[in-house]
Amino acid sequence: MKKLIWTILLASVMIGASAQKYDQLAKTPPMGWNSWNKFGCNVSEKLIMQMADQMVASGMHDAGYEYIVIDDCWQVDRDENGEIVVDKDRFPGGMKKLADYIHSKGLKFGIYSCAGSKTCAGRPAGRGHEFQDARTYARYGVDYLKYDWCNTTTQEPKSSYATMRDGLFAAKRPIVFSLCEWGTAKPWEWAKEVGHLWRTTGDIVDRWDSMIDILDKERELAKYAGPGGWNDPDMLEVGNGGMTTEEYKTHFSLWCMLAAPLMAGNDLGNMSPETAEILKNGDLIALDQDVLGKQAFCFRDNGDYEIWVKKLDKNEKAVCLLNRGDEVKEVQVDYSVLLKANDNYWSTDPYKLEDYKVRDLWEHKEISLENKTAFVKMAPHSVKVYRFIKK
Ligand code: GLA
Repeated sequence: MKKLIWTILLASVMIGASAQKYDQLAKTPPMGWNSWNKFGCNVSEKLIMQMADQMVASGMHDAGYEYIVIDDCWQVDRDENGEIVVDKDRFPGGMKKLADYIHSKGLKFGIYSCAGSKTCAGRPAGRGHEFQDARTYARYGVDYLKYDWCNTTTQEPKSSYATMRDGLFAAKRPIVFSLCEWGTAKPWEWAKEVGHLWRTTGDIVDRWDSMIDILDKERELAKYAGPGGWNDPDMLEVGNGGMTTEEYKTHFSLWCMLAAPLMAGNDLGNMSPETAEILKNGDLIALDQDVLGKQAFCFRDNGDYEIWVKKLDKNEKAVCLLNRGDEVKEVQVDYSVLLKANDNYWSTDPYKLEDYKVRDLWEHKEISLENKTAFVKMAPHSVKVYRFIKK
């Protein structure tokens, strides 16, 4: 009897030990590029290799972007052993070769599947093949898996995603696990144990309204984000043509304030100077990648005018003024109030303005604090982003 109890205990410890995600990944929000927003199902080996080349040549890699992720439509079938079959016409060299190429550029390789019976584009997906697929991905050399939620009928989200997590862990290759459940089952409440990032909303569309609608949904979620587990407001649309340059600056700034994963979704081989300037803004990326890993909170909501604040490491702070309106706005900025901004309304933090300098992260210059307050003119749909930097 004693022996039986010990066996049961040992078995449950062993199961417990395997039920975990790779913990040391995504200590800051993952950065990379994903094929979906621009190319949809039109993916191929040639395109992905070009994007890897461009990631390096454009300076995006130097700016911090590292994952090249193929979204839906790389897979066509399963063979007689249940193995996933790659579209040979589009990927004649196969996935291992493509992964090797991406790795040879110093980049990492990401792939896509889905927890249901079919992916959202109707391709074979993971249900019932989780451990097998995880082993296949490990063999390919995959570093990142985006896992969608189409065609899941009555499946339970947490356990479905946990099965894939366990598959990945058993395959013994560290793979960032990106849950794409669209926020329906509140993944922020449970996904930290399962994956490294979780979508919080439906799909972004390359339009101002869609982007700002997603922002509103992130408001209550700040407390759930942190090193190793991030709210994912979906991939970037910067450079895809549906918003103005000003609006793309706003989109990028907000995503950095939110400590969002930064997955570029544009054609890296065909970037305008404005798009490149936005995506490679190192001052903004530094906010996103700050090691404290705090998501910004909304400090003031005056209708069309909002102030978002992100706490940074070493008692620094980022502040984003947002003009959501269609008119130019002149706002009065009191830097000492902004410095003390806290999610508990008034901070008791002993922050003193004289200990800081303030940098404008789009103008890339320091602001004079002689008057402590300033009137700032803001274009429609624009932001001002400041960083309080310790002297
Ligand atoms: C869903 C996801 C998208 C994309 C497509 C692919 O809609 O939310 O991000 O992956 O599927 O079919």
